[in-house]
Amino acid sequence: MEIFVDSANIDEIKTWIGYGVIDGVTTNPSILLKDGVFEMENGIRAIAECIGNRPLSVEVTTDELEEMHAQAVEFTSWAENIVVKIPVINQFGQPSLGVIHRLREEGVKVNVTGILSFNQLVLAAQAGGTYLSVFAGRVSDEGNDASTVIKRSVKFTERWNLGKVLVGSIRGTADIQSAIVAGAHIITIPPEFLLKMVDHKYTRETIREFIDNAKKAVLDMSEAPESIERIETGKEMAK
Ligand code: E4P
Repeated sequence: MEIFVDSANIDEIKTWIGYGVIDGVTTNPSILLKDGVFEMENGIRAIAECIGNRPLSVEVTTDELEEMHAQAVEFTSWAENIVVKIPVINQFGQPSLGVIHRLREEGVKVNVTGILSFNQLVLAAQAGGTYLSVFAGRVSDEGNDASTVIKRSVKFTERWNLGKVLVGSIRGTADIQSAIVAGAHIITIPPEFLLKMVDHKYTRETIREFIDNAKKAVLDMSEAPESIERIETGKEMAK
């Protein structure tokens, strides 16, 4: 399984890459806005540069199919590790499958985004998506079971050797655990949840106890020179 970070915050991305737990980065227009990346090309180039050869997903910002293709070609000229995010349908319900297929034929890696059902995933995979982004949180918003969609998707893609199932729209660490158990190939996680995964209040307490006791031991040693002397003398006598 791989972990991607769902962020455009360059400091957070660098931090988590530095921890050695991140295999790629995903963004979307809402994330770019939230993280203050208003000038897309320079912002994306900067992220792409600091993540080595890991993939960086960048989403098209249009409903027009021809324009989607043109943007995809432009994005991939910014850096070698760019993967283009194409929504499975546009906001009017028009399938983007032809654009995905065309890009695939041209050797461009596509992350098919906005997938909320197994039906959509099947067609996105058939069209040639390298990554198939299932939005777990939004599947749940609709009252459906994200784990079922993920499990079926993983089974299908592995059986027919199609794209990787990438789970996004994470709303909490329980979603991450469910996606892992369901067999997701990749989970893209916002930095705040990565931090929640590693933190634990009882671990903090435990470490505090160890540090306090280590300090006490040093203090005890300095306050009890006689006992150290006795130990030293004991060593001498044993010789
Ligand atoms: C995944 O690649 C998307 O960027 C993201 O996870 C979407 O999630 P949202 O439901 O928080 O918008």
